[in-house]
Amino acid sequence: MSTPDHDVEYVYYDLIIDAIKIRYGYDFTMYAKSSLRRRIRDFMHDKNIDDPLDVIKDLIADEAYFVDMLGFLTVSVTEMFRDPDFFRCFRSVVIPILKTYPSVRIWHAGCATGEEVYSMAILLQEEGVLDRSKIYATDINISAIDHAKQGIYNLDKMQVFAKNYLKAEGKAEFSDYYHAKYNGAVIDSSLKNNITFAQHNLVTDGSFSDFNLILCRNVMIYFNKDLQTRVLQLINESLIHYGVLCVGKKETISATFLESIYKPLDSKSKIYQKSGKQ
Ligand SMILES: C[S@@+](CC[C@H](N)C(=O)[O-])C[C@H]1O[C@@H](n2cnc3c(N)ncnc32)[C@H](O)[C@@H]1O
Repeated sequence: MSTPDHDVEYVYYDLIIDAIKIRYGYDFTMYAKSSLRRRIRDFMHDKNIDDPLDVIKDLIADEAYFVDMLGFLTVSVTEMFRDPDFFRCFRSVVIPILKTYPSVRIWHAGCATGEEVYSMAILLQEEGVLDRSKIYATDINISAIDHAKQGIYNLDKMQVFAKNYLKAEGKAEFSDYYHAKYNGAVIDSSLKNNITFAQHNLVTDGSFSDFNLILCRNVMIYFNKDLQTRVLQLINESLIHYGVLCVGKKETISATFLESIYKPLDSKSKIYQKSGKQ
């Protein structure tokens, strides 16, 4: 029986994904197939590789090669105050809830290079909540986490970030929160005090604490339904009663098992609150 060419290509891609799982324990089998394939293709194109078997050989032999490929397989596109409406809404809807807690535990799951986390730290500082907050920010991609820890961003991006901050109704000057050094914008170190960045894989690692607030924005969009359900389970286990969950603009918890346990605080901004019942 003959197989169409593109199917053969997909078999090789599946083998690459299997090789990664066997060799390094990273499981991409439940990621949305079409975008994962596109990213493998991008990797091969970027490295000028024609034969997928070469990818498998190099992957198995060289861990640094895998870490490089991980950057292609995971999409770490992010911005400070991305979706400014979300941050505006967060300020009016979630901050009053956080203010009722003597201490606030926050988890950014899938924080990429840290821009979302520093945006939240700025907002919390402006609202007088940062001092009693402990922020855990995690991602599967160790290079992204290293970048996030440094908190140095390209100066060219600051204009877009500043516009977002304005739209998000920030209370100060955005430039108050960084200083320029060489060609980089260095995030103010006072914003870093309450943040712990660490590697964590939502596919294989467990829940690690009782959080008042979990943000998992623009991450599940890359997962298939089964993996989304698994991650929502993990999030649900990690959030206290009446805790708040924020997902991305294009994501939803509607038609999942969380729908009956969570009520929307703002449907448009995808901000939900866990109810008392389980
Ligand atoms: C598009 S970024 C979102 C960043 C940020 N939350 C935002 O909304 O701007 C998606 C992030 O999810 C991370 N990610 C993908 N799979 C993951 C997994 N299994 N566990 C943890 N993070 C993961 C990627 O490495 C990437 O940094």
